[in-house]
Amino acid sequence: MAIRLGDIAPDFTASSTDGEIRFHDWLGEQWGILFSHPKDFTPVCTTELGAFAARKGDFDARNTKIIGLSVDSLESHDAWKGDIAETQGTALNFPLIADDDRTVATLYDMIHPNELETLTVRSVFIIGPDKKVKLTLTYPASTGRNIDEVLRVLDSLQLTAGYSVATPVNWTDGKDVIISGAVSDEEAKTKFPKGFTALKPYLRMTPQPNK
Ligand code: BEZ
Repeated sequence: MAIRLGDIAPDFTASSTDGEIRFHDWLGEQWGILFSHPKDFTPVCTTELGAFAARKGDFDARNTKIIGLSVDSLESHDAWKGDIAETQGTALNFPLIADDDRTVATLYDMIHPNELETLTVRSVFIIGPDKKVKLTLTYPASTGRNIDEVLRVLDSLQLTAGYSVATPVNWTDGKDVIISGAVSDEEAKTKFPKGFTALKPYLRMTPQPNK
């Protein structure tokens, strides 16, 4: 069954390039991003894995662990790592799950047979410290992901988890945000001391509260 926002991210035990992973234990109290790629030794995947590795510091800065997955074997992952380092300039610095029996891919509905018969598509699951799924993204094999977009939505999720706000279209960290409709104007005056602008009663903008 498809995983929906707000569901508890299914737990599993799997082998990875960093040894056995018990997923919930591995996540600990941190945010987590589980993402799949279709296949080792393929071009788009090689660029993606290198880019996630190059930006790992940005995920660390957001208290977020990242972990990749495909239905390839551990031997395949280990052999491919050298190509990622060689061609993308950054060595793999996070675990890659070897899901050759498709346990995790099935649990997370990462195989979409009408797109790719037996391989995982480019799924992304962002999981909060409460182990609940906060955001999902799904891309076909032909479209590589954008790390800036993954970081952007992570910033929004982390901000909106802590404050009664939502982020508008094309929002990026540091831009004004929308005050939640559940907050009255009176409450907003104390909750958002930098002030707010009411463009409409339902559309009240305020400077990002954690900046
Ligand atoms: C790629 O990463 O380039 C790729 C992987 C699987 C199918 C097609 C393309």
